[in-house]
Amino acid sequence: MAEGTVNQSEKMVHPAVKPLTELLGTWKGDGEGFFPTISSFNYSEELQFSHSPNKPVIAYSSKTWNLKSGQPMHSESGYWRPKPDGTIEVVIAQSTGLVEVQKGTYDMNEGVVKLKSELVGNASKVKEITRVFKLENGELSYVVEMATNLTALQSHLKALLKKL
Ligand code: HEM
Repeated sequence: MAEGTVNQSEKMVHPAVKPLTELLGTWKGDGEGFFPTISSFNYSEELQFSHSPNKPVIAYSSKTWNLKSGQPMHSESGYWRPKPDGTIEVVIAQSTGLVEVQKGTYDMNEGVVKLKSELVGNASKVKEITRVFKLENGELSYVVEMATNLTALQSHLKALLKKL
């Protein structure tokens, strides 16, 4: 790599995105799904965080497959908008048609991003969604909780991913 290239590419990361640079890239791993009203299941996942130079936003996408059969399962994509004050807003569109506006905080000293839905739209059952992401020892884990019309807020998903 030519001298100065690294500095140049670092400059291209928007200052608002810089604290979350460690997230950028493609992550792969396995997850587990559960909820009192359904049968538990296992899935594999590929999750991507990407950044266009100098934009204060991270593009997010996730695809999942049934761990046993390899059949595609849920997918979703959206945008993460971190602010310099440690708050973050996230919009996500799911393959089921459901949309989310999430607000929360990030603390990259602790390696934690915490999100709570401010809006869940076009959903027949889901009332609330929380997402907590953790970066630890180079691995990314998350827990997704949801509340439905019949069931109080509790875990639906957890996964552990490694960077490719
Ligand atoms: C925030 C993201 C998600 C939301 C809001 C969501 C929402 C839901 C809801 C409302 C149900 C029905 C629960 C009930 O009937 O009481 C459900 C079931 C289910 N979800 Fe998710 N889900 C999400 C992510 C995922 C992902 C990533 C996968 C796969 C990897 C997945 C796989 C399933 C499966 C297999 C069922 C059971 C379906 C059935 O038995 O008919 N979900 N989900």
